[in-house]
Amino acid sequence: VIARGAIESLDAALAERNPSRVALVVDREVARLHPGLERLARRVAAASILVDGGEGAKTAEKLVALWGALGEADLDRGSILLAAGGGTVLDLAGFAASTWHRGIPWIAIPTTLLAMVDAAIGGKTAIDLPAGKNLVGTFHSPIEVIADLAFLDTLPAEELSTGFAEVVKTAVVGDAALLDLIEEKAPALLAREEPALLEAVRRAVAVKTAIVARDPREGGERRLLNFGHTVGHAIERASGYTIPHGRAVALGMLAECAIAEARGLAAPALRERLARVLARFGLPVRLPPTLDVRAIVSATAADKKRSAGVLSMALPREPGRVEVVLGVTPSETTNGVRPLLWPA
Ligand SMILES: NC(=O)c1ccc[n+]([C@@H]2O[C@H](COP(=O)([O-])OP(=O)(O)OC[C@H]3O[C@@H](n4cnc5c(N)ncnc54)[C@H](O)[C@@H]3O)[C@@H](O)[C@H]2O)c1
Ligand SMILES: [Zn+2]
Repeated sequence: VIARGAIESLDAALAERNPSRVALVVDREVARLHPGLERLARRVAAASILVDGGEGAKTAEKLVALWGALGEADLDRGSILLAAGGGTVLDLAGFAASTWHRGIPWIAIPTTLLAMVDAAIGGKTAIDLPAGKNLVGTFHSPIEVIADLAFLDTLPAEELSTGFAEVVKTAVVGDAALLDLIEEKAPALLAREEPALLEAVRRAVAVKTAIVARDPREGGERRLLNFGHTVGHAIERASGYTIPHGRAVALGMLAECAIAEARGLAAPALRERLARVLARFGLPVRLPPTLDVRAIVSATAADKKRSAGVLSMALPREPGRVEVVLGVTPSETTNGVRPLLWPA
């Protein structure tokens, strides 16, 4: 359910399933900014469990603490877990739901743009380990996703930008008209105005939903959603995670466009267009001067390890059309990253 006021549909969703008990896991900041959510929880849930959002939510310690809280709330096999927050809280709570009594149903209430268009869709849950992000996880789709646009009213501007990086990615992967919309309605989107925002969220959700429905376990088509993420993850890693994910993905998309250009897949106009759009949404189009190209290229090795020594990337042909290519070489990556450097 995607709408301003979508949260009103929660009662009906719960009534339909008649759970023995309900608990809400909620981002502390979201609970503070949206007291209506707490009132709702008091009405429909036996317990509400506050957690701190941010990547620090996704640790083994926080998971154990959450399991403890679910026990205290007496959640049994017939219960439903509600999770309200950004991608971090949904990943943690979804993981807890997938393991509690070997899996209980959960309802996702995404409160960031990124969570609405990405983290709440497709059933992946995860926590991080010191050895890497999202190393432990499950596939456990929520039975319902309630994306209430009213949450976005309080989202800090930089979190909105991060979300738009993923919306742009999704447009390139599967919806050329969405890219047009993002360009034409940029001022309205930045001002969080409906109906532009509603349409952008709906279209982005539709692209991801269609892809994951055809490839729920990431055997093939789902890899198209990695556009911008192979180089993006390498940039995150090379920066010691000081560059936030969405900003790294913006840079990753531009680098991967350049690689696609060199392979004759995409026209230079695509990269120029994306650079304009990303800059419009406050996202970077140049690497921080402290970041070294070689460090980025060697960080792509971590992706290669996962796929038997071959580096694959989802490269664009044109808006709405991306394909997975195998065997991208370090020198191709180097040349792809180079246009992101500041002119000497
Ligand atoms: N499961 C998936 O398929 C999937 C997909 C993409 C990303 N993710 C995961 O999502 C996480 C990133 O999610 P995110 O960007 O939402 O980060 P987040 O959950 O850390 O939220 C960002 C910040 O915004 C705050 N916040 C949340 N909602 C708010 C609101 N309505 N108003 C004001 N502040 C609010 C949070 O407290 C936090 O400080 C990463 O851990 C990533 O791995 C998962
Ligand atoms: Zn992403």
